[in-house]
Amino acid sequence: MSVETVVDRYLDGRITVLIGDLTDQRVDAIVNAANASLLGGGGVDGAIHRRGGPAILETCRAIRATRYPQGLPTGEAVITTAGELPARYVIHTVGPIYGQHRGDEPRLLANCYRRSIEVAREHALTTIAFPAISTGVYGYPASEAASVVSRTLSQWLATDDSFTEVRLVFFNRSHAETFVAAAAFGATDESA
Ligand code: APR
Repeated sequence: MSVETVVDRYLDGRITVLIGDLTDQRVDAIVNAANASLLGGGGVDGAIHRRGGPAILETCRAIRATRYPQGLPTGEAVITTAGELPARYVIHTVGPIYGQHRGDEPRLLANCYRRSIEVAREHALTTIAFPAISTGVYGYPASEAASVVSRTLSQWLATDDSFTEVRLVFFNRSHAETFVAAAAFGATDESA
């Protein structure tokens, strides 16, 4: 079990920014930064499948064979078992690849968080943990992502109290500090 460090809390403590491993989070759902194939990859996706075991991939394959034969579109989200992970479910979403969406990246990144939250609510889940979606392999600058994520979560938390805990889990201190420095919680700019 890796050591976790809480870096900051926002919005009456309902949002927690922490340094840790997403796969350690004991919450209703962790959110996977997947790719359209839903068949695994590197980064947090690889960690989830490695630690969660084959049941996750089996469910992903079933989703590809039925609902998403062409792959999961960017900004969409689906839910599977969490297999051997401490979490109950994994919500898989596909983040935008920075520079590949003709300026539509902020909206697509916001959709990853919005759709993951909607899927969690459809399953009556109340605690959820996100990685920094798209800020790794997909190249989204961490400070730009922080602005989109904090505004999106502020908008949603302002109208919905069904979640008791939203964790933003960063793999290292510098990423967490970049997020805190750029976050704009309380702003509800519709542009995101
Ligand atoms: N816990 C928390 N955060 C993690 C973990 C972990 N175990 N592993 C990686 N991260 C962080 C990375 O440091 C990065 O800040 O998650 C963030 C997202 O990075 P990626 O996992 O590379 O995800 P993303 O940028 O969305 O790219 C998705 O990469 O792994 C492949 O299959 C995945 O093709 C997809 C693409």
